Amino acid sequence: TDRYAVVGNPVAHSKSPLIHAEFASQTGQDLTYTTLLAPLDGFARSVREFQEAGGKGLNVTVPFKQEAWKLATSLTQRAELAQAVNTLKFDGATILGDNTDGAGLVRDITANLGFSVRGKKILLMGAGGAARGVILPLLEQYPALFAIANRTPDKAHELAQLFLPHGDISSGEYASLAGCHFDLVINATSSSLSGELPPLPAGVFSPGSLAYDMMYGKGLTPFLQFAQANGAAQLADGLGMLVEQAAESFFLWRGVRPETQPVMVLLKPKNG
Ligand code: ATR
Repeated sequence: TDRYAVVGNPVAHSKSPLIHAEFASQTGQDLTYTTLLAPLDGFARSVREFQEAGGKGLNVTVPFKQEAWKLATSLTQRAELAQAVNTLKFDGATILGDNTDGAGLVRDITANLGFSVRGKKILLMGAGGAARGVILPLLEQYPALFAIANRTPDKAHELAQLFLPHGDISSGEYASLAGCHFDLVINATSSSLSGELPPLPAGVFSPGSLAYDMMYGKGLTPFLQFAQANGAAQLADGLGMLVEQAAESFFLWRGVRPETQPVMVLLKPKNG
């Protein structure tokens, strides 16, 4: 039986063990998947111990994604650009680092929500770790326009500069979006955590637009409420992204692509 886990601090609340157990039983893969609580100053040690005990791979969550990026001895291009790793695969002495968050987001948007990104105008809100992790996979869908808005505009400008070889990104503060319209607006800020909302001009949602909050388990976030009130046609939270990024990791480890739909049904909050 091959061993996997999600490492984080805190990590007890993680849905990943449930998701991967479902994937494993569905695909007949012989593996266990648990949580691994690492001390805040002991990430590398925890990873090494897990690996030495025969572990095959890890998912990495808050606050260790950047440390995992540094720890990996080999990186996929998307992880290298994200400067964050959510998936480690152990292969002899090699520690491969990948970041499946962006691919998970794109898959949720395209396959699950039926929204084609090609030729569309995208607005990404936020310029922190979560935003950075999804830029390359989004650019690879050939949007017509890609904009990043951030409270601290310099961080948005930096990202635009960094990703320039992969596509044109316009960047600025929220106020600079006045008069602009987007087909897909993605909230990658952590503002929902505190029940806040970035100062988004009301007119940014094109008719038919999709508003996507990468946060999940919060019900209708302030961002999604704002989007609904201001003309977004479709709303989505990050639950689908969570399941899809897990499926991408599972595929990297096992070479088998699990069905995500049954797991999404399992995790969807029941109304009433
Ligand atoms: P994460 O890993 O979740 O991306 P982060 O790297 O700390 O966390 O980035 C948080 C992001 O949310 C940043 O883009 C931050 O904006 P600043 O760069 O200006 O700090 C954004 N953010 C957090 N709270 C916000 C709020 N109340 N309004 C607008 N943006 C907010």
